[in-house]
Amino acid sequence: MSKKLFIETLGCAMNSRDSEHMIAQLHEREGYETTDDLKAADLILINTCSVREKPVAKLFSELGVFNKKKKEGAKIGVCGCTASHLGEEIIKRAPYVNFVLGARNVSKISEVLHKDRAVEVDINYDESEFAFDDFRTSPYKAYINISIGCDKQCTFCIVPKTRGEEISIPDNLIIQEAQKAVDAGAKEIFLLGQNVNNYGRRFSGDQEKVNFTELLRRLSKIEKLERIRFTSPHPFHMDDAFIEEFAKNPKICKSMHMPLQSGSTKVLKDMKRGYTKEWFINRVEKLRAECPEVSISTDIIVAFPGESDADFEDTIDVMKKVRFDQIFSFKYSPRPETEAEHYTNIVDPEVASDRLSYLQALHTQILDEKNAQQMGRVYRVYFEDLNADNYVSGRTDSNLVVKVKGSEELLGEFRDVKITAIGRTILTGEILE
Ligand code: 5AD
Ligand code: SF4
Repeated sequence: MSKKLFIETLGCAMNSRDSEHMIAQLHEREGYETTDDLKAADLILINTCSVREKPVAKLFSELGVFNKKKKEGAKIGVCGCTASHLGEEIIKRAPYVNFVLGARNVSKISEVLHKDRAVEVDINYDESEFAFDDFRTSPYKAYINISIGCDKQCTFCIVPKTRGEEISIPDNLIIQEAQKAVDAGAKEIFLLGQNVNNYGRRFSGDQEKVNFTELLRRLSKIEKLERIRFTSPHPFHMDDAFIEEFAKNPKICKSMHMPLQSGSTKVLKDMKRGYTKEWFINRVEKLRAECPEVSISTDIIVAFPGESDADFEDTIDVMKKVRFDQIFSFKYSPRPETEAEHYTNIVDPEVASDRLSYLQALHTQILDEKNAQQMGRVYRVYFEDLNADNYVSGRTDSNLVVKVKGSEELLGEFRDVKITAIGRTILTGEILE
């Protein structure tokens, strides 16, 4: 009988891809199959996120639960970003943990499995050219890493300390991986990196300097590849050539993530984001001029240290001007080893909560107004998931989630769908024959 692996993945899409890599290595080299049943598992992995404080606190309570419920002799491994930044301390606080594997050491999963109390968290380790075994959760959409690490110095962000310096993966490896996924039936690829449009900044070996715009051009030549998505681009690197390629290349999905973080130029400076409120709005205007159908999503942090009422008003002003299609909004959370951790001009927690609620209520209103216009519209949908009650869901080019009545045959297929009902997170439609 094969050994069983239970894996929990927190955090971002990069973590999801890291989990796929670990599943692949453990399957090919160690004979593990995944299970959803914690009690049946021989190996329990938590792939952690440390971007905000809450998930880190949750980790130790969760580890306690896993330790109680696990079957006799089962191993527990802590992987990912919290593993990188806490390292040894995890085993000190939870001595039943068998190994700790950092976000930049994923390829060593087989190694740590066979060592007692191994801690592999070197953030200078270079895995940019490592040939991982193959495993994909979805046969329809392939996540592909295009870089590891992050060179930015945003003062709120722990990621450079958990994923190390930025190294781009050679374009020929990315193209090969995309081709392989497409040959296996995927019609969509999703390129991943902390800073995708800074691609090509540094490679580990000698190699032609290819930038992100050129990478997109090269990937779009893959026959039978129909859709390319990516996350996350940085507003600072959104030059005209990139925006123009985005707009005119028919394989690139017309959905752009533009992490604003704050609408105040002063706060952006304190965050070391490298752009101003005006630059951000200017990029949105350029993008919409080139590509009127684009949908734009964003990340916003409220109550960064020193954020005044007037600074917050600037964020609201950008919200009203841009009218984002989707926002991910957070209260600032101080993180260890970051510059902002030492800032003393903390915003009152009650004010922070009020600002977050205000921002989210404003966005709900914007979303409802936008959604009201969706009724009766027709979209091309790529179906990816089976839902309850005989529904199948997929995404439009602009990243709207749409469900229709249907079954497996629709998975991996494109259909034109007319919207018949509106929900905040999912639209319902009917397939046009
Ligand atoms: N506090 C709150 N939110 C944060 N993010 C990153 N670091 C922090 C922090 N210290 C948010 C940013 C980023 C998203 C992934 O998480 O908005 O874009
Ligand atoms: Fe992803 Fe950042 Fe969380 Fe690491 S800390 S898992 S890079 S979101």
